Amino acid sequence: MAKVDLLLGLQWGDEGKGKVVDALTRGYDIVARFQGGPNAGHTIEFDGKKFVLHTIPSGVFNERCINVIGNGVIIDPKIMRDEAESLNAAGVNLTESLRISKKAHLIMPTHRALDAANELALGKKKIGSTLKGIGPTYTDKTARRGLRVGDSLSSNFRQQYETIKASHLAQIKNLHYDINELRLDGMTFDEYEKTWFEAMEYMKRFQFIESEYFLNKALDEGKNILAEGAQGTLLDVDFGSYPFVTSSSVIAAGACSGLGIAPSRIGKVYGIFKAYCTRVGTGPFPTELFDATGDKLRERGHEFGATTGRPRRTGWLDLPALKYAVMLNGVTNLMMMKSDILNDFDEIKVATAYRHNGETIDYMPFDICDETTEPVYTNIKGWKSDIKKSIPQALENYIQFIEKYVGVPVSLVSYGPDRTEVIER
Ligand code: GDP
Ligand code: IMO
Ligand code: MG
Repeated sequence: MAKVDLLLGLQWGDEGKGKVVDALTRGYDIVARFQGGPNAGHTIEFDGKKFVLHTIPSGVFNERCINVIGNGVIIDPKIMRDEAESLNAAGVNLTESLRISKKAHLIMPTHRALDAANELALGKKKIGSTLKGIGPTYTDKTARRGLRVGDSLSSNFRQQYETIKASHLAQIKNLHYDINELRLDGMTFDEYEKTWFEAMEYMKRFQFIESEYFLNKALDEGKNILAEGAQGTLLDVDFGSYPFVTSSSVIAAGACSGLGIAPSRIGKVYGIFKAYCTRVGTGPFPTELFDATGDKLRERGHEFGATTGRPRRTGWLDLPALKYAVMLNGVTNLMMMKSDILNDFDEIKVATAYRHNGETIDYMPFDICDETTEPVYTNIKGWKSDIKKSIPQALENYIQFIEKYVGVPVSLVSYGPDRTEVIER
């Protein structure tokens, strides 16, 4: 029976998911995004070209692949049109290959304004959101008052929009936020709103579908599906370092509800992690480095956000956190990314436990946001050489140490941004 394989980030996002989805697409008929929205930035590099995708699945560079934006995703039509147009300019035609769930929710311009107002109100306690309207849009979805892609086909779409907008404007006023000061992609609110409606019309060139039927029928016909996760497990709304999380279910279970796929139809679960750790935005990060080593990781790894350009926080690999993510997702295959960034270290540290409230623990504690959680490190010898097609012995030792700790094999090692720079183990 055909299955849906899942590809998920196991840390705080930006693990290199886009690259792996693109590299794996040859084996799949369909690639489907199941959660998140334009907070994601998935980078794909090949033939000296570089693309960053936010809403559109990373299977678009394989001509025989159908790409589905599932019901669990939230879409800003303006951001999506910009993305589609730049892909079009690069010769990627999406009209035939892209399908959008009618049940996917729409990010309205006032959702973005609310995101900014909420963050401002939080002051020092802000989440460090990407300001794409993610939190407010998922809030409206669960509060049962959201606007969906399928609604855009209705004759009273504008009326539905205006009703929700009015309630948003009241909330924004309550937060003492002046919407006239807001700039969205360099535009005033009114300019952005006008562009948003034009982009909504543009979107109608793509097929709006009942994606749950489409995907289940494809499975019945024996087609292979890859579900592409966004963000990472440590940003999950239930299991991440709440409240410093995103607003969707990013774990394996989220793929079932975000696509309408039964758990019995899930096949392999590819868990993607970096050979070290990064995080953007606020929130706990036990192995974070504030010294020259952290700067070295950021510089060598070009650790600046693909969506917002913000510098990413950097630190050593955190094995209790990785093991937690492997457990929550039922990972069957691990893929280690950005191994090349560690090529020039005499010694590499890896956290195997935490000191927390005077105790040594090896799990993610509930109060991780309130208490200091210090890492307990094991030192591992660096490989001090370039990785090309084969794995140096010291890197092999590092990988085996990780495998032993988390109990799942590392089946792929990535050593550069290009889609060809991978070694299968
Ligand atoms: P995603 O959000 O998980 O898709 O990851 P991002 O695209 O936000 O960030 C990953 C970054 O690392 C991108 O700039 C990739 O081009 C780059 N990258 C991916 N794999 C590797 C690797 O093995 N080595 C190096 N040096 N860069 C990589
Ligand atoms: P990809 O798919 C890294 C982070 C933000 C912030 C928190 C909440 O590229 O891995 P939100 O805008 O969702 O309300 O922000 O989550 N965040 C990400 N960090 N990669 C991402 O996506 C992220 N998407 C959201 O920085 O801390
Ligand atoms: Mg990213």
